[in-house]
Amino acid sequence: MDFLVKRDDLHECRLADDKTVPLEPGRAALRVDSFGLTTNNITYAVFGEAMSYWDFFPAEEGWGRVPVWGFADVEDAGDTGLEEGTRIFGYLPPSSGFVVTPHNVDERGFVDGTPHRANLPAAYNSYSFAEAMAVYEPRREAEQMLLWPLFYTSFLLDDFLGSEGLFGATTAVLSSASSKTALGAAFQLAQREGVQVVGLTSAERVEFVEELNLYDTVVAYPEVESLPKESAVYVDMSGDAAVRAAVHEHYGDELRHSAVVGATHFDRLAPEEARSLPGPNPKFFFAPDQVRKRTAEWGREGLDSRFAEAWGPFVEWAVGWLEVVRREGGEAVKAAYLELLDGRANPSAGYVISP
Ligand SMILES: NC(=O)c1ccc[n+]([C@@H]2O[C@H](COP(=O)([O-])OP(=O)(O)OC[C@H]3O[C@@H](n4cnc5c(N)ncnc54)[C@H](OP(=O)(O)O)[C@@H]3O)[C@@H](O)[C@H]2O)c1
Repeated sequence: MDFLVKRDDLHECRLADDKTVPLEPGRAALRVDSFGLTTNNITYAVFGEAMSYWDFFPAEEGWGRVPVWGFADVEDAGDTGLEEGTRIFGYLPPSSGFVVTPHNVDERGFVDGTPHRANLPAAYNSYSFAEAMAVYEPRREAEQMLLWPLFYTSFLLDDFLGSEGLFGATTAVLSSASSKTALGAAFQLAQREGVQVVGLTSAERVEFVEELNLYDTVVAYPEVESLPKESAVYVDMSGDAAVRAAVHEHYGDELRHSAVVGATHFDRLAPEEARSLPGPNPKFFFAPDQVRKRTAEWGREGLDSRFAEAWGPFVEWAVGWLEVVRREGGEAVKAAYLELLDGRANPSAGYVISP
């Protein structure tokens, strides 16, 4: 199974047969066991060109493989020294299998050194041996596939805002508050003293978000003006131009930082040359940059152990509302992808697909 998306029309997608090719020296074949699908994967497709997401698992001209996070097993180790059957966690193609060139193999995992990946962000090229991961629990594989890549960003975002003293603000306003990444960030921010966490969401999702009892305040997008005008930072998970303008206009000079994190409302994105808004210029938050910074300061182990400490309580909380929806086969990938692309998926749902 191989799932392909037309790069210039994300609604056009098709299934193809996964081709088996003889292994070249230094390479190993991984069999994809299962992966999670959320709006984050849609964003990879939306920014496939601009952020090189199409370059991880290149496809034929005009088509792309949307990267996913999940588990794979070493099927054929070739001459690489990997052990067949070893379970790997990492960035995968939406296919039944793929080939890696393991470099820097140690007790934790390896880096895929396939030449076409050399200039892509390192955070996506690392593969972990599942058993060696501090967060790994076999019974929580579904939650790991769905939430790990998102909560990693949530954790780093909270860490970034915290290390900046929230830019002197007392309120954090998050858009697409129903998204798993925003929920993770809100979970972390809510643990900070004196921070009011405000969630902005679509009218039809206010109830879901309110019932989670996480945000201090939840309002629908058209009600931004009803919020008290306190010093605030904006964490933009939606990328929605109108929502961003409403937040900047409402808080004005009280807005201390505006972080662009996601683009769930990809059909209403703020243009790059955005008209000038009151308050600070929106600044893109790219999680791999914060990974590099903290790895330099804390070391990889220091970062991993801090993350693992935050992950445990978050997952325990998330299993209370996350509805793992398991599906199998190519048609299931296609259906879940299209549901997410059109924003029809229930925010509590997390698709876990076995190709
Ligand atoms: N910068 C980074 O490093 C980084 C890392 C991880 C994730 N992210 C980004 O964070 C965002 C959230 O990802 P996620 O996987 O956490 O999302 P998710 O849980 O699948 O979020 C679902 C929510 O997104 C909104 N949404 C999704 N599709 C929509 C559509 N077509 N039209 C309107 N609203 C739609 C809705 O929220 P509302 O109704 O509340 O708006 C929906 O409830 C993504 O854009 C992702 O790329 C960024």
